[in-house]
Amino acid sequence: MLPTLPLLLFLLLLLPVPLSPASPPAVQTCQDFIHCLISGGGGFPSNLIYAPSNPNYSTILESTIRDARFNSTSTPKPSLILTPISTSQIQAAVLCSRRHDFHIRIRSGGHDYEGLSYSYSSQFAVLDLASFRNVTVNRAEKTAWVQSGAVLGELYYRIAKRSPHLAFPAGVTNTVGVGGHFSGGGFGFLVRKFGLAADNVIDCRGRILDRASMGQDFFWAIRGGGGNTFGIAVAWKIRLVTVPSTVTVFSVVRTIEQNGLDIANKWQSVSSKLPKELSLDLLLTTTNRTKNRATIKIAIFSALFLGKTDKLLNLMQSKFPELGLTGEDCKEMTWLESVVFHGGFPSNATVEALLDRSKNSPLVWTLKYKCKSDFVRGDPIPESALLKMWEKLMEIEPEFGGILMFPWGGEMEEISEFRIPFPHRGGNLYMIQHMAYWSDEGERHVGWLRELYDLAGDYVSREPRSAYVNYRDLDIGMVWGEKYFGKNFERLVRVKTAVDPENLFRNEQSVPPLPRGIRSQRIAAGSQFDRCTL
Ligand code: FDA
Repeated sequence: MLPTLPLLLFLLLLLPVPLSPASPPAVQTCQDFIHCLISGGGGFPSNLIYAPSNPNYSTILESTIRDARFNSTSTPKPSLILTPISTSQIQAAVLCSRRHDFHIRIRSGGHDYEGLSYSYSSQFAVLDLASFRNVTVNRAEKTAWVQSGAVLGELYYRIAKRSPHLAFPAGVTNTVGVGGHFSGGGFGFLVRKFGLAADNVIDCRGRILDRASMGQDFFWAIRGGGGNTFGIAVAWKIRLVTVPSTVTVFSVVRTIEQNGLDIANKWQSVSSKLPKELSLDLLLTTTNRTKNRATIKIAIFSALFLGKTDKLLNLMQSKFPELGLTGEDCKEMTWLESVVFHGGFPSNATVEALLDRSKNSPLVWTLKYKCKSDFVRGDPIPESALLKMWEKLMEIEPEFGGILMFPWGGEMEEISEFRIPFPHRGGNLYMIQHMAYWSDEGERHVGWLRELYDLAGDYVSREPRSAYVNYRDLDIGMVWGEKYFGKNFERLVRVKTAVDPENLFRNEQSVPPLPRGIRSQRIAAGSQFDRCTL
């Protein structure tokens, strides 16, 4: 079933421009690439190109490095950073990249969990879309245009300022970029009611390609098939969703002594079955940390309810009385204020805080971190295993470790796993994000996180052990394609083969094209998959 209020995604997709056979041979030098950009290809102004010798190079590179793990001297740095301000400049960058076989990485908000938008093992340039950040809301049509370099906070703010009844179902953190987020799915507190950000793309157009010219398969692939794979998304048209003028939020803490384990256990079977208007997530973590050990286990239950407190209290009393929610725990506010509430800002922060793209964000960008994801399908994790995982958090050596569990169900239960590339739909109780944050040099924290992940192995989705492509994880091995995309992977490979056979747009886990020899036969067979329409 389609979401009741689908969002409309506007996408300007720029593909490699086909070169004539007379094109000059590829020469892999930075100078040739620069020359092509400035004079050979398309008038890319030199003042928008930053080489390491430029005094502003580091500031621009670091402006959206969101994980300090990839901001060290050992992180491979780009030979150039390109900061286009027009689509023709993006097109020039793509053309010159292809002509000179000069690899480019696309960066919108810089939140890639493996730093793939700004690091690479060979020579490369970063194409930074930070200047593409316009948001234009059409209140009557309930749509908005948003460019890829905008961040979620700006998007939410601009929408709600035009109408407090309009909203958009995407991620929780205000600094996440639209470009990478929409390319891989994008979920937040409205996912149970309206689905993912990428679920509801219904049109795209641009100077080079639009939905009609790109074809159905291509259009399907860009909505969740992963960033830097099918081209460069410059702007998206989204259909907005309607929210009430008053919503209710809470965030309550329960320790083990306050029956936290039983309540967390109950949460596992209840949370995905609650009405769609309520998203209630659970963070298992610890506090009172001494040198190498924490001493108190805490469970933090955080919620957004699309309605008022009295209705929420009645609902919780009938469906989840074990939590013991009271009126004092609840706060009524606008939807936009709820984004600030869940964004981890100080309690006196105003909604304008959502516009801050800098590193003043509440998340401590100076820390290093790694995350891994899981989906719990069918049966909940047994209480004893849950306790074991929680115990593991007590050994914590990193500054912060946690298991964030986000409920599925609702609209996610109703959308087909084939509708867009994101396959994790019906039958999933919740998604897990295993997290470790630290500040010292220790790679051992990654080992600790892997051990935590191993503890969950017997109780989460298997064959394959699914993962969320927007939580990029280079650990997950050779079959990452099936883990991220399930049965959709094969179709993604066919689309990739058709639209980018030379694999110009790629990262360490982007969908590859088929090997040359078997291409035509497989692509032709793929037409039978043309069944996903909106
Ligand atoms: P970034 O610019 O690093 O891009 C990510 C990937 O997409 C890269 O491979 C990049 O090359 C590619 N890409 C970027 N722009 C592109 C474009 N215009 N066209 C084509 N490819 C492009 N997720 C979620 O669903 N819900 C949430 O609440 C959160 N919260 C969250 C918090 C924090 C602190 C982090 C670090 C991450 C999240 N995420 C998340 C995950 C987030 O959705 C994911 O990392 C996105 O890919 C980030 O997009 P950015 O544009 O910020 O990243």
